[in-house]
Amino acid sequence: MKNKILVTGGAGYIGSHTCIALHEAGYDIVVYDNLSNSSREAINRVSTLIGQPISFIKGDIRDTESLKQVFSTHNFFGVIHFAGLKAVGESVAKPLLYYNNNVSGTINLLEVMAAHNVKNLVFSSSATVYGDPDTLPIDETAPRSCTNPYGQSKLAVEHILEDLAVSDDEWNLIALRYFNPVGAHPSGQVGEDPNDIPNNLMPYISQVAVGKLDKLSIFGNDYSTVDGTGVRDFIHVTDLAQGHVAALSYLEQARSPEKNNIDKTSVNKKGSVGFLPINLGTGKGTSVLELLQVFTEVTGKPIPYQFVDRRAGDIASCYASADKAKTLLGWQANLSITDMCQDTWRWQSMSPDGYAIT
Ligand code: NAD
Ligand code: WQD
Repeated sequence: MKNKILVTGGAGYIGSHTCIALHEAGYDIVVYDNLSNSSREAINRVSTLIGQPISFIKGDIRDTESLKQVFSTHNFFGVIHFAGLKAVGESVAKPLLYYNNNVSGTINLLEVMAAHNVKNLVFSSSATVYGDPDTLPIDETAPRSCTNPYGQSKLAVEHILEDLAVSDDEWNLIALRYFNPVGAHPSGQVGEDPNDIPNNLMPYISQVAVGKLDKLSIFGNDYSTVDGTGVRDFIHVTDLAQGHVAALSYLEQARSPEKNNIDKTSVNKKGSVGFLPINLGTGKGTSVLELLQVFTEVTGKPIPYQFVDRRAGDIASCYASADKAKTLLGWQANLSITDMCQDTWRWQSMSPDGYAIT
């Protein structure tokens, strides 16, 4: 058995897939989640898939006493920190909720980690920290700016992690900047289960395909892109999950760089990496219409759509330079847009109501 890892937000979309990948890689995991945007059923299904119960604690990252108890009970190597709220529109309406949950919650977690001398963290950051990029593909040195409270909360946490790394050179703080995660576990048992009408493109398309929604509204067809619709770097959630395993493995190997084969340019004399931002994307851009076409081809489901005005705050194009992840972590995305559509559809058609138990 490898090291023990605390997975905050492990019942959520990306967290549940990462729990499977961590288990397959031999890690011992403890999930900590307040279930504010997820369901216990996700954990049940992950347990069934991996063939053993998952250690699950229902708790909030803002609850210091609860976190202290968890860290006193378990000897963690590190934390993968998914817990956070992620709806851009809601963050504009409820900024205090987002700053409290995402920023105060993370500070609380870091304080408890420090008190227990657990100084390895993999944080869920986002391509949203790049705002409207000047150049494409976007590499990790690109300027950062955000226009909504959700993005600001991610950027604020990145700044906190940077300051923390400067203050104490024993911290290892990897910020994984995800591009657009889509898809589902190939079993069709685990996937994305939005509470309300989806904000994001892929779950919206799949709910139209399964008959829960009438038609897709495409937000703008006058962008300066291949066909006028927005271009994004869609990445399969199981590739993303593997990126977390690679990040953890990197931190473990950094501890004794002379014995390992990793790129050591980011590692200090103490074997720490400080604050290390890394993009997780495919490096390829796909337009809304291109994604729709592949989805229709692989599922045989026509998706009615209409063009409407641009959505406030949207940008034309966003895709990653994935070079740093490849060089440092030895990780790259392997799955195609076809895989993303097939796996989304398998999940959506097998569980049209998500994790709701009827
Ligand atoms: P998700 O909502 O499915 O998962 C987040 C989980 O965190 C949920 O299970 C929720 O119940 C839990 N949670 C929220 N606040 C909590 C708190 N205070 N205490 C304990 N648990 C709490 O979202 P996801 O898509 O899996 O995203 C995971 C992380 O990745 C988030 O931090 C998100 O901001 C970030 N991210 C997501 C995307 C994306 O498009 N899905 C892109 C970039 C970054
Ligand atoms: C993709 C494209 C839309 C829905 C968001 C967050 C970002 C990150 C990932 C967390 C755009 C178009 C969408 C629809 C559409 N999350 N679209 N009709 O906006 O790139 O990123 O999720 O960190 O912070 O902002 O993803 O899936 O919402 O949109 O035409 O009903 O699809 O305009 O071009 P986005 P998305």
